[in-house]
Amino acid sequence: MKVIGINGSARKGGNTATMINTVFGELEKEGIQTEMMEMSGKNIRGCIACMKCFKNKDQKCAVDKDMANEYIAAMLEADGIVLGSPTYFANISTEMKALVDRAGMVNRANDNMLARKVGAGVVVARRGGAIHTFNSLNHFFFIGEMIVPGADYWNMGFGREKGDVTGDDEGIGTMKILGRNMAWLLKKLNA
Ligand SMILES: Cc1cc2nc3c(=O)[nH]c(=O)nc-3n(C[C@H](O)[C@H](O)[C@H](O)COP(=O)(O)O)c2cc1C
Repeated sequence: MKVIGINGSARKGGNTATMINTVFGELEKEGIQTEMMEMSGKNIRGCIACMKCFKNKDQKCAVDKDMANEYIAAMLEADGIVLGSPTYFANISTEMKALVDRAGMVNRANDNMLARKVGAGVVVARRGGAIHTFNSLNHFFFIGEMIVPGADYWNMGFGREKGDVTGDDEGIGTMKILGRNMAWLLKKLNA
């Protein structure tokens, strides 16, 4: 089994990556393969509403000029998807929103091809807006018929500078519980 983590931060290897990697640590202990995809420095634009994905029905975005189809293909291949985003103005990053819109529409155009994959959103903030950011990620999973495991708190950690989130014991603990619950769920679904 495999879980991909897509880090929507503009900052590679920052707090969001730390949170995703903490989830990965628990998955790997259970023998689940993981792969991180960093969006930092990669090109992705928003949905242009051409609706060609509904005509083509080829599990791809019709706009094949940026990274969107690479992420969509990785989601399709994986059993589990972790979407991570820092909080930017109380919401997900621009790049992550572009991915949610593009992948979300391709999913809908292809009979919810991502249905019943296990999905989890992971969020970092300095101070405010994390719950809204978390909700924004969850909209992608829930409308796409994906199965979302919980943790002992909403999936968020706090920190500003790179690495700060390692000092948020509760946030890191939440990620560990999320990782264990994700592994448990993946094993039940794939038994
Ligand atoms: C453009 C921008 C907007 C931000 N907006 C918020 C915000 O609304 N609330 C907040 O708590 N932190 C905000 N932050 C801080 C980041 O969420 C925080 O530094 C986070 O740890 C970054 O994660 P990263 O290390 O994965 O990039 C913002 C940072 C940037 C660059």
